[in-house]
Amino acid sequence: MAEKQFNLAVAGATGAVGNQMMTCLEESDFPLKSLKLLASSRSVGRKLRFRGDELPVEELKEDSFKDIDIAIFSAGGGTSEHFAPFAAKDGCVVVDNSSAWRMDPDVPLVVPEVNPHAIAGYKKKGIIANPNCSTIQMVVALNPIYRNFGIRRIVVSTYQAVSGTGKKAVDELFDQTRSMLNFIDYEKNVYPHRIAFNCLPHIDKFLENGYTKEEMKMVNETRKILEDDSIAVTATTVRVPVFYSHSEAVNIECEKPVTAEGVRELLSAAPGIRVMDDPANNVYPMAIDAAGQDMTLVGRIRKDISNPNGIDLWVVADNIRKGAATNAVQIAQVLAKDYLA
Ligand code: A2P
Repeated sequence: MAEKQFNLAVAGATGAVGNQMMTCLEESDFPLKSLKLLASSRSVGRKLRFRGDELPVEELKEDSFKDIDIAIFSAGGGTSEHFAPFAAKDGCVVVDNSSAWRMDPDVPLVVPEVNPHAIAGYKKKGIIANPNCSTIQMVVALNPIYRNFGIRRIVVSTYQAVSGTGKKAVDELFDQTRSMLNFIDYEKNVYPHRIAFNCLPHIDKFLENGYTKEEMKMVNETRKILEDDSIAVTATTVRVPVFYSHSEAVNIECEKPVTAEGVRELLSAAPGIRVMDDPANNVYPMAIDAAGQDMTLVGRIRKDISNPNGIDLWVVADNIRKGAATNAVQIAQVLAKDYLA
């Protein structure tokens, strides 16, 4: 029998992540019948290239999804909140990259290497949430350790690329860097402070408990994906002047004693992970290694000398690919193959 093919839509196709979603789809073997590109009314009239064709950008509307099987959204939280239920009502399954639905108990939050079984929960609301970029790469690296040694506590500090904020932030880092190197005044529009040659311990809004929303996303989403609310998590998220790829220093306390060798062996065999850990030869993952590819890179694996059950890791991934577009396309692939075929 011929493989079933699907009508797919990308909402937010003109944005940084939406664009990458199209590239990931082009590279994938997703059984695609047609692709509809949606964005705001501002982009109507634009055409985007896909597999040699020029596809028109249409305005995202409440009735855009009547003939669509799967819609991948990356057009901001407010847009998802409003339009995803209309898509679901028309029988389309939404894979949403925003934070709007992630903590809804009736919406699965999925990283295919970690909890693909959760995809079945899409039947409740017709929506599947793609986790926060920093959370995705961390849980890919931690899942094998969690399954084998248990995890009591996670302490993570992130070094996040500006592309996570969108195209405007990529331009701002470029423009500010050029201005600084030419000794001319720089403009500041996206972040509250200069990002060029600086680090901002501030991602998303500050909350009453002193954490930022980004930090609390890492806390809550990690527990939801690993399906274990007993894991203690604390995070400090920092924006750094890097264009692509987030890096993370992760310290974990396991339930049982662990060795660096044991963790290295485990991660070397795990899906979606490439271990790069040869400090003697200056081999460790860097943002420039991760950018443009789909693996989560892990290195600097070492025993935490302050805790018999502790391990330290350095985890790097492309925030626009595995942290957003790739993960969403992988979810759509499992959905198509295992649930909608
Ligand atoms: P547009 O380009 O027409 O503004 P980024 O995260 O890189 O800033 O991209 C955001 C994406 O979300 C863009 O594709 C943008 O479309 C889209 N978008 C933003 N607001 C809306 C909206 N109200 N309706 C539809 N698409 C939207």
